Amino acid sequence: MRTKGIIIAIDGPAGVGKSSIGEMLALKLNYKFISTGKMYRALAWKADDIGLDLSDEIEIMALANRIKWEYKKDENPVIKIIVDGIVIGSQITCEKVGKATSAIAKLREVRKFMCAAQRELGADGGIILEGRDIGSNVFPDAEIKVYLDASPDERARRRVKQLKEQNLEADYEQIFSLILKRDKQDAERKYNPLKKDNSYYYVDSTKINKEEVVNEIFRVCEKHIKAQI
Ligand code: C5P
Repeated sequence: MRTKGIIIAIDGPAGVGKSSIGEMLALKLNYKFISTGKMYRALAWKADDIGLDLSDEIEIMALANRIKWEYKKDENPVIKIIVDGIVIGSQITCEKVGKATSAIAKLREVRKFMCAAQRELGADGGIILEGRDIGSNVFPDAEIKVYLDASPDERARRRVKQLKEQNLEADYEQIFSLILKRDKQDAERKYNPLKKDNSYYYVDSTKINKEEVVNEIFRVCEKHIKAQI
C-alpha cells in the first residue's frame, strides 16, 4: 500500500539529465527523489578504493554487506546516501568511478542487493527514482514510467558545457565516445539492461530545455495523482 503517493520511475541513458529533472519534479510534487546510479557508484567507489577485483562477485558482495548503508530523508527532496558515515557527493562523479560502476553493475548479486534496497526505499510511494531499470525491474508496477532520452551528440555537448562551467578540461570527441560506450554497456548487459517498451512515457529532450521537460512530465503526473484522489 503506497501511503505517501505514487511511484515515478525515470529511466534513460547516461548524461540525459535524469537527476536534475527528477529533483526539479520532486520539488514541484513535494515528493522524495533518489538517484539509484549513486548507489551503484557508492559501492564501486568503495571497492575501487580498497583495490578489489571489480569482477569478483563474492568479494564485491561481501563489501556491500559490510558497508553501513543509510538513506536520510530530511526536508530536502533528495534522499541522501550515506555509506559508513560518509555522505555520498562529488567523490563518485569522476570517470574512474564511472568505469568501475559499469563493471560492478553487471553483477547479478549486486543488482539484487540494490534492487531490494530500492524497493524498500520506495515502498510507501511519494517518490521519484531514476536509473536504468526502475520501470522494467525494480518497480514494474510504478504508476508512472518515464523514458528520458536525448541524442548522444546532444548529451556530449551538455557534458562539455557542464565541465567547462566548472573550469574543467572537456574534449568533445572523448566524451562522445565514452557516452556511446556507456550506452552500449547499459543496453547489452545480461541482467536488467536499459530498455524501453510501451509501458514508458517517452520524452525526447534533445531539442527542449529542462523546464519544458519537467513541465511535460509534471502534467502527466498531475493527471494521474488527481485521478487517484
Ligand atoms: O546514472 P549514473 O551515470 O550515475 O549511473 C552509473 C552507472 O550505474 C550506469 O552506467 C549503470 O551502469 C549503473 N546503473 C545501473 N542501474 C541503475 C542505475 C545505474 O546499472 N538503476
